[in-house]
Amino acid sequence: MKKITHAVIPVAGFGTRMLPLSKSVPKELLPLGNRPAIHYVVEEAIAAGIKHIVLVGHAQKSAIENYFDINAELDHQLRHKGKDELADSLNWLPEDVTVSMIRQGKALGLGHAVLAARPIIGEHDFAVLLPDVVLDPFTTDMAVDNLAFMLDAFATDGHSQILVDNVADEDVHKYGIAKLSENSDMNDQADVNASFSVAGFVEKPSLVEAPSNLAVVGRYVFSNQIFDYLANTQASVGGEIQLTDAIDALINEYGVNVTTMRGASYDAGDMRSYMQAFIYFAEQQLADDK
Ligand code: G1P
Repeated sequence: MKKITHAVIPVAGFGTRMLPLSKSVPKELLPLGNRPAIHYVVEEAIAAGIKHIVLVGHAQKSAIENYFDINAELDHQLRHKGKDELADSLNWLPEDVTVSMIRQGKALGLGHAVLAARPIIGEHDFAVLLPDVVLDPFTTDMAVDNLAFMLDAFATDGHSQILVDNVADEDVHKYGIAKLSENSDMNDQADVNASFSVAGFVEKPSLVEAPSNLAVVGRYVFSNQIFDYLANTQASVGGEIQLTDAIDALINEYGVNVTTMRGASYDAGDMRSYMQAFIYFAEQQLADDK
């Protein structure tokens, strides 16, 4: 199986849970410590070996694309003033990594946003990273954990991989929830990744409808076939074209595995958890600066 080098990061959400902060600043650019949230998500993808990152956005999100581009004027000014080290630190994106942006057009849901990346992804298999979810970069080795594990698992058995983590009962309604296969050999330990087969997903169920407490965290590795299923997926929960519906169709035909998450994740798309995440990231960085 060929190594996956492409990833899609949907950034087209309006961030209504983050208003008023997100009124004129894309929520993906809100800070976690001294960097915008999406910086860590892109670093995570690069650490796992991704070379081509496709952002799916809209007109109000072009500041995100600019963040990953060289600001030639600023670079020149900084170097002119002898601040070469600072200028170098801004050009951290490796030369063999590209970040491009495509627009979603109509806002028809997460599944539709991923499908919008098809003209750039083409025939490649690919990863999807949801930028609301930031994995803890201080206690997790991004080069070997989670996404890297999923990419390896995909390369080994060809099954699409969905990252899941246990959530509290009161939170299941916020997520896609996994229904385990009867024969799935679940070995859920917080300190190791484990991969096992899944029977399906229920998008944002009530607690009584929830088939488990294993929630979709926002990291996926897909075989290219997902695009065909997305193209045939109708709007459902919330009137949106849901990625989880296309995954269910993929499961029926090819089988899909879930990977249990290692380390901690932070929700940067919800005001309360964003504020907690900010404090955590800032404290870690202040401690590093000592
Ligand atoms: C999306 C997915 C959901 C997943 C969640 C993770 O929902 O549809 O399955 O659990 O991201 O953050 P959203 O939060 O965009 O409504």
